[in-house]
Amino acid sequence: MKKISRTVFVCNNCGYETHKWMGRCPGCSHWHTFVEELIAAKSDLKSKEELLLAASKPVPINSVEISEDERILTGINEFDRVIGGGLVSGSLILIGGDPGIGKSTLILQSLHGLSNKGLTVLYVSGEESPQQIKMRSERLAISSSSLLILSETDLAVILQLIENDKPDVLVIDSIQTMFNRELASAPGSVSQVRESTMRLMIMSKKTGIPTFLIGHVTKDGAIAGPRILEHMVDTVLYFEGNSNYMYRTLRTVKNRFGSTNEIGVFEMKEHGLEEVTNPSALFLSERPENSAGSVVTASMEGSRPILVELQGLACHTNFGTPRRTILGLDQNRVALLAAVMEKILGMHLTGYDIFMNVAGGVKLDEPAVDLGIVSAIASSFLDKAIDKTTVVLGEVGLTGEVRGISKVETRIAEIKKMGFKKSLIPGNNLKHMTEQKGIELTGINNISEAIDLLF
Ligand code: TYD
Ligand code: MG
Repeated sequence: MKKISRTVFVCNNCGYETHKWMGRCPGCSHWHTFVEELIAAKSDLKSKEELLLAASKPVPINSVEISEDERILTGINEFDRVIGGGLVSGSLILIGGDPGIGKSTLILQSLHGLSNKGLTVLYVSGEESPQQIKMRSERLAISSSSLLILSETDLAVILQLIENDKPDVLVIDSIQTMFNRELASAPGSVSQVRESTMRLMIMSKKTGIPTFLIGHVTKDGAIAGPRILEHMVDTVLYFEGNSNYMYRTLRTVKNRFGSTNEIGVFEMKEHGLEEVTNPSALFLSERPENSAGSVVTASMEGSRPILVELQGLACHTNFGTPRRTILGLDQNRVALLAAVMEKILGMHLTGYDIFMNVAGGVKLDEPAVDLGIVSAIASSFLDKAIDKTTVVLGEVGLTGEVRGISKVETRIAEIKKMGFKKSLIPGNNLKHMTEQKGIELTGINNISEAIDLLF
């Protein structure tokens, strides 16, 4: 008799099972929590149990041998660094990002690097026809006989093809377009996306084929977004950018084979993405000279320091409550620092609107830029420019104290490299620093000291 695989709808919140989709769960009264799931046929289950019994045995941890995994390099250095130093066999990598940001372009360029090494790579697109992919690759000047393209959305067909052809690297663009015939729901629904990822994960672990999944993140979040997949894959990368700027950042959010919080910077050009090997220079290139409200600070993005310009504008408020309009920084953090400045420095900021921006549209979320924020606001408030060869670093506490930060030496090295001559750093950090040549370091213990030195 032919096996028929059944599906059920399970409430994501309480686990209530039904055979029909429901808007509201009778179990927990939550709305829109039902997700379609496949139930394996009885015979399948039995064989899986047998498999488990045969395969897995607990082993003492000291007898486990680690084979030094060979990493495959794509040749695009920024990309290789962000994924932790190359591709690991059997890894599943999710690249998320807004539609149109350049995910397909990035992956096609990386695949080109791989195919140039003689590896067979398979690019499966559920969104574009081979002609469309060809047009894009002509723009990118990519052409190779070992770069195979396929337009397909039926996952069963794709998996069969992989089994027959055994490519060295696989890309699925995008996971939201993949479709399993067993599930009744439409491609892009949570159950389809989850099931497709599950199958690709099993395939990748079994065959050792490194697999990239591309996923769109919708602005409002979860549904159809790849967020639900984050725990299933080995590595999660986000490709981000501001549509007003031509550069893009590739950020690691999770990586089982390397450090997280790495970023790679690219610039979208006429003929594809170009690596930006010196992002500090890019972010500082249009810095105004001798203008009040501008200051440079160094922020760590993963293992790499990046120098960025902070801009502050403090002007008299016309309304009862002063405005705090902040781009690229945490709004609450700026409000808190403004309050500290009012109390400790006696600057009457409650009567002022504060606007802040990180030049170039970068986003910073590190406390080490606090002193930079304070300096930029103070500079605008006092209408005095900060010396253009000075960089400020430090976390600021509620009593106005300047606290130590991490990785000072790495930041100082970048500051020196970019030609700055002076730096204000937390006093605590200075005590533990080795002697630095070519830069004048000043230890700061509270914000009053910093303001006295800067203005
Ligand atoms: P794409 O890779 O299709 O984005 P995604 O896969 O994330 O949806 O990139 C789309 C944008 O990139 C598109 O607006 C055009 C632009 N682009 C360039 O500026 N230069 C290029 O060489 C290419 C291929 C694309
Ligand atoms: Mg695309």
